[in-house]
Amino acid sequence: MRTVEWNAGKVKMIDQRQLPWEFVHVDFETHEDVATAIKEMVVRGAPAIGAAASFGMVLAANQNTTSDLKALQQYLGEAGERLKAARPTAVNLMWAVDRILRLATSSDLVTAEELREALLQEAQNIADDDVVINRRMAANGATLIKDGDTILHHCNTGMLATVDYGTALGVIRMAHEQGKNIHVLLDETRPRMQGARLSAWECKQLGIPFEIIPDSAAGHFMAHGEVDIVLVGADRVASNGDTANKIGTYHLGVLAKENGVPFYPVVPTSTIDMNIQSGADIPIEERGPDELRTPYGKALVPEDYPVRNPAFDVTPARYITGLVTENGIVRAPFIENIARVVQERPLNLT
Ligand code: MRU
Repeated sequence: MRTVEWNAGKVKMIDQRQLPWEFVHVDFETHEDVATAIKEMVVRGAPAIGAAASFGMVLAANQNTTSDLKALQQYLGEAGERLKAARPTAVNLMWAVDRILRLATSSDLVTAEELREALLQEAQNIADDDVVINRRMAANGATLIKDGDTILHHCNTGMLATVDYGTALGVIRMAHEQGKNIHVLLDETRPRMQGARLSAWECKQLGIPFEIIPDSAAGHFMAHGEVDIVLVGADRVASNGDTANKIGTYHLGVLAKENGVPFYPVVPTSTIDMNIQSGADIPIEERGPDELRTPYGKALVPEDYPVRNPAFDVTPARYITGLVTENGIVRAPFIENIARVVQERPLNLT
């Protein structure tokens, strides 16, 4: 099944907080509950939260039963703001809500009922497009993987972080499906442990050979020649190529360059924010202290110990060998080449 889907008037999601111990689904009936699910990471990963928010907008359209088109459009505008505020860094969330809102205000729609039907279709398109795009990225990225490679991966970028298939883990999956003999070193990805809990679970399901490593061991493995390529996802890419991703990605970029290891974020063009000129303008989410003090409910340190918990960091473009997109692999000069792949977004996919 998909990570997020529309099911009989509700939004159905895999509850990622329970993995790898339990595989359970939860249903959501209001857009407010979808916003909370995004905030609390029932669903996480840039493309997955974009898809969840677009189905959340459909719930909003059904929550308000008015037959007045203008009143419905105004309500959707407010619901969109609520959903966008759930998490600040992944631009796919804003991109998906804005795509739904553009349709909601299009002059072709005459009645509130027409609007509700059109929104459901558009949310389905966003989800379906994501799967097609991931497979295209995977095919492009798999050309970088050689038989016998060891790949270092950070966070979770697989089917759980998308609607299905995955971004960086999608590339790994494609290389494995092509019969390449590969091995994956999975950063555990503190503090939420998406690598250890989610990426490892996915690799296990797919039969991809892996080992979990502490985040702090990445430099050790690179320095000992045990890493052939680093693949990561992205939550927002600035128009100059600076890339925000899960905290701990920046040092991978620096270490990769120092050790002569190629470093590739795998990024759908919907994650590229052409309104942002550099990584300095990307908002970085700071999450609550309990993720460090009491990870998964277990007290690690006293609750009055001060904590900082940025959830993302920015890797400057100079550390990036290339960005794998659905429209090809982008290399320096990034400003020109990113503008080109973004323009190539197929029309039926925007
Ligand atoms: O905080 P998360 O788990 O939502 O962060 C997710 C990541 O950083 C992923 O690596 C990312 O969204 C990239 S691509 C699917």
